Amino acid sequence: MTTDTIFNITKTSSSRIENVDLDKPGFGREFADHMLEMEYRDGKWQQPEIKPYGPIEITPALNTLHYAQSVFEGTKAYYVDGESVNLFRPEKNYERMVRSCERMCIPTIDRDIFLEGIKELIRLDHQWVPEKEGNTLYIRPFACAFDPVISARVSDTYRFFIIMSPVGSYYDRPVKLTTTQQYVRAVKGGVGAAKTAGNYAASLYPAQQAKKDGFDQVLWLDAEEHKYVEEVGTMNIFFVIDGTLVTPNLRGTILPGVTRDSVVQLAKHWDMPVEERRISIDEVMEAGKKDTLDEVFGAGTAAVVAPVAEVHHNGQSVTFDIDGRGPVGQKFYDAITDIQRGQAEDPFGWVTSVEVE
Ligand SMILES: Cc1ncc(COP(=O)(O)O)c(C=O)c1O
Repeated sequence: MTTDTIFNITKTSSSRIENVDLDKPGFGREFADHMLEMEYRDGKWQQPEIKPYGPIEITPALNTLHYAQSVFEGTKAYYVDGESVNLFRPEKNYERMVRSCERMCIPTIDRDIFLEGIKELIRLDHQWVPEKEGNTLYIRPFACAFDPVISARVSDTYRFFIIMSPVGSYYDRPVKLTTTQQYVRAVKGGVGAAKTAGNYAASLYPAQQAKKDGFDQVLWLDAEEHKYVEEVGTMNIFFVIDGTLVTPNLRGTILPGVTRDSVVQLAKHWDMPVEERRISIDEVMEAGKKDTLDEVFGAGTAAVVAPVAEVHHNGQSVTFDIDGRGPVGQKFYDAITDIQRGQAEDPFGWVTSVEVE
């Protein structure tokens, strides 16, 4: 099947690209010319449409607005040259979206619609992929309940969208993290491993409190014992302790990050000792005191690798006198971004190259 038969395509008559500074795009405020929209009704997904980006009509009763039966993904397109654009492991985002959909009772989307939809949008809007190092075109697929009904039940109708936004780098300075004894992000048996709207809504208040106290983000601890490190707002967390890379294992409460998986695979490829295990905040603070905590960094699509300047817990802090990434974080950042931009070999087959004219 050709993409023309999969998608019903309507091109925009006037591009908005001239109004956007791709060297300084901000984050998530400007949107590329086209989007994908697909409707689920009568028990099945209908033919997907690619059309000019624009507002959608909803009623105030739309169930998603009230009960948050909604999931999303985040991946990026990277400028290579005038002829091609790279995607980075989009199939991992597809697989995670399927798991998120299943957890949230949303009918799953066909693999081809998700992956070919992204590629078709890139072919149409490749001019929106910023050339400048560090800037990228963020791709946001999402699916949500669409019944115009105020009722806390599984919806009968859904919409799936893909929208794209040129973005700059997320964190431009090392971040300060604090734990909280009062709040938790996810509980065992809950929806922590799903990329679903409510997880982010629930984290806003504690994040706001952390900001008031002078920190950038919350370093979440486990809900049962408030003892083990989980993750950060939109990143997984890595500690370098005595030369060993340590990151919390996946146990259903944290998001299985694509970047996390890439860092772990790279470490194994380089024969760097890496441990995916439970790590207590006491162990982190103790390593800080003993000076065996070499580096801390977050890993996620938005930031790739974000250096951490401070970990604060129970009135005590471990600080790093840095104004950028440490050597280990930098090594991962360089390796991943070089593969993403086609500037290094891709031994894992992570890149999907999209030819553009
Ligand atoms: C809660 C959370 N943890 C971790 C991540 C990192 O995941 P990824 O590397 O797939 O972007 C994200 C971002 O998607 C996130 O929202």
